[in-house]
Amino acid sequence: MTGRLVADAVAYRRGGRTVLDGLSVSVAPGEMLAVVGPSGSGKSSLLAVLGGLEPPDSGTVLLDGAPLRAGDPAQRRRFGLVLQGYGLLTLLTAAENVEIALQARGVFGQEARLLAGDALAELGIAEVGGKLVEKLSGGQQQRVAIARALVTSPDVVLADEPTAELDHGAQDVVIEALHEAAERGAAVVVATHDPAVAAECDRALRFHEGRLAG
Ligand SMILES: Nc1ncnc2c1ncn2[C@@H]1O[C@H](COP(=O)(O)OP(=O)(O)OP(=O)(O)O)[C@@H](O)[C@H]1O
Ligand SMILES: [Mg+2]
Repeated sequence: MTGRLVADAVAYRRGGRTVLDGLSVSVAPGEMLAVVGPSGSGKSSLLAVLGGLEPPDSGTVLLDGAPLRAGDPAQRRRFGLVLQGYGLLTLLTAAENVEIALQARGVFGQEARLLAGDALAELGIAEVGGKLVEKLSGGQQQRVAIARALVTSPDVVLADEPTAELDHGAQDVVIEALHEAAERGAAVVVATHDPAVAAECDRALRFHEGRLAG
C-alpha cells in the first residue's frame, strides 16, 4: 500500500498566533518533499498536523482521500514519525525501541528482532542495538528514531530535522534510507534547516510565518 497525503486550506493556531494560515500541499506516493523555513516558521507544526497528532483549526488533511481521524489505529499504523526530540524510551535498548514499532503492528519475537537489527544496520548503528538509549549519543539516538520510523515500511514518513545531530557521513546514510522509503512508494516529508538535505528532496515547500514563501 502507498499513501497520498493532502492538506487542503489548513489553518492552525497556537497560543493566539496563526502558525499555519490556509496552507495546501499534496505529497504523492514515492515523492520526497522538503519543508524549509526559519526557526519558528511552523515546520514542526505542519508535520504534527500532517501526521494527525494535532487537529487543524480549519481545513482538512486526507490520506488516500480519507480524512485523518484522531485515534484511528489502522490509520496511525500507516505513518512513520521521526519527531524533534525523538520520543524514544530511554530505559530500553535501541533494538527494543525499534521492535516496539513492529509489535504495535503484530510482529513479534525472532521476526521482530531480525527486522529491527536490519533497520539499525541500514542506519549504520548495528553495534548499538543492545545498548540502553540513555547511554547513546544524540546522533545515535536520532538514527534509532529513524530506524523505528522506517522499520514498519510505512506509507507516509514524516521526519522532523532527521539529520540535525549528524556528521556528513551519517547524514548521507539517513538521506539514503529516506530515499529508499520513497522508492518503495512512501510519501516522505522532511522538515530541515539544512539546504543540502532539502536539495536531496524532489521539491521544497519554503515557508515563513505559515505562508508559502516564493
Ligand atoms: N505548544 C505551543 N504553544 C504555543 N505556541 C506554540 C506551541 N508550539 C509551537 N508554538 C509556536 O508555533 C510557531 C511554530 O513553531 P514550530 O515548532 O512549528 O516551528 P519550527 O519551524 O518547527 O521551528 P524550529 O526550526 O525551531 O524547529 C512558533 O512561533 C511557536 O512559538
Ligand atoms: Mg521544528
